[in-house]
Amino acid sequence: MHIAVVGAGLVGAGWTIVFARAGEMVRLFDASKDARDNILNDVRGRLEDLKSFDLVDDIDPILDRIVVCETLSSAVEGARYVQESVPERVPLKQEISKQLSGLLSGDTVVGSSTSGIPASAFTENLPNRARFLVAHPVNPPYLVPVVEVAPAPWTDPDAVEIAMSVMTEVGQSPIRVRREIEGFILNRLQGVLLREAWALFEEGYASAEDIDKTVKEGLGLRWSFMGPFETIDLNAPGGIREYAEVLGPLYHSIDASRTDPRPWHDALIGKAEAERRDAVPAAALEERRNWRDRRLMALAAHKKQQTE
Ligand SMILES: NC(=O)c1ccc[n+]([C@@H]2O[C@H](COP(=O)([O-])OP(=O)(O)OC[C@H]3O[C@@H](n4cnc5c(N)ncnc54)[C@H](O)[C@@H]3O)[C@@H](O)[C@H]2O)c1
Repeated sequence: MHIAVVGAGLVGAGWTIVFARAGEMVRLFDASKDARDNILNDVRGRLEDLKSFDLVDDIDPILDRIVVCETLSSAVEGARYVQESVPERVPLKQEISKQLSGLLSGDTVVGSSTSGIPASAFTENLPNRARFLVAHPVNPPYLVPVVEVAPAPWTDPDAVEIAMSVMTEVGQSPIRVRREIEGFILNRLQGVLLREAWALFEEGYASAEDIDKTVKEGLGLRWSFMGPFETIDLNAPGGIREYAEVLGPLYHSIDASRTDPRPWHDALIGKAEAERRDAVPAAALEERRNWRDRRLMALAAHKKQQTE
C-alpha cells in the first residue's frame, strides 16, 4: 500500500523525498497544475544535492516511486497513510480534511503538517475524526528528522501508534505530544530562546551577531546530538540533581525577571533587521538559504557516520 502526499509545495515536496527515499510508493496531489507539473523536477534537483553529500544512492529509482496524480481521490484511495501539507489556514485545513474523510478507508491515518493549528480545530465534525492527527515536520524534513505527532482529544491511540511507526520506518524521529498545546513542543522551546534573545537585544546587552554566536559557537554544538535534560545531567559530577541544586536558584531568578510577555514590536524588529541586512543583504538571502541547506547536508552526512 502506498503513502499519499496532499499539497506538494515546500513541505509536501520534502515529504515526498522522505517517503520515496525510504522505498515507499508515493502518490501525490496538489490543487495547482503548476505545482503538479514542476514537482518532479524540483524533487530531482533536491535529490541531486543529497547525492553530492552521499545522502542518497541512485536517484532514478527514487523518482520512479513517485506518481503525480490529477485528482485527490486517485492519490489517496487505498493509501495506508496520508500526509497533508496544504497552506496554514484553518478553513483550508477543514475543507481538505472533510474531502479526505470522504475518500479514506477505515484504517488510513491522516497526518497534517500544520505548524501550529491543533488537529481539533479542523477535524471535530468528521465522522472518522479518530484517524486524524498532526504530524508536524521541520523544513526540510529529509534533512531534519524530528516529527511532532500530536493527536486531537478524539484521535484513536491506534492512529497515533500507526503514525509513530510510519515515521520511524521512513527514517524520521517522531516524538509524541501527549495532548494538544499551542506551538507543540519544538516551537515552544524555540519560543523561549527567541523571547530571551529579543529581550537581551532590546535591552542592549549584546548585538544580534553576538547572541547568534553564543548559540552557534556554544549551546548549539551540543544540541545536534543531545537535548537540554541530557546536557545538564552531564554538566555536574552528580548529574541532573546536583546541577539543579547548584544552579536551580540562578535559573529561577532569571525566570522571575521575565514576567512581562512582550510582542516583537516594529521598532525592535527594524533594529534587528538593520543588523541582519548589514550581515546578509536582502538580495543574498536565497543564496544564504542554500548555504544553510548545504551545511545541514554536511551535518546529516556526519551524523550518518556516527554509530550511536
Ligand atoms: N514552510 C515551512 O517551513 C513549514 C515547516 C513545517 C510545517 N509547515 C506546514 O506545512 C504546510 C504546508 O506549508 P508549505 O510551506 O509547504 O506551503 P506551500 O504554500 O509551499 O505549499 C502548499 C501547497 O498546497 C497546495 N494546495 C492548496 N490547496 C490545496 C488543496 N485543497 N489540495 C491539494 N493541494 C493544495 C498549494 O498549491 C501548494 O502547492 C502548512 O501547514 C505549514 O504550516 C511548513
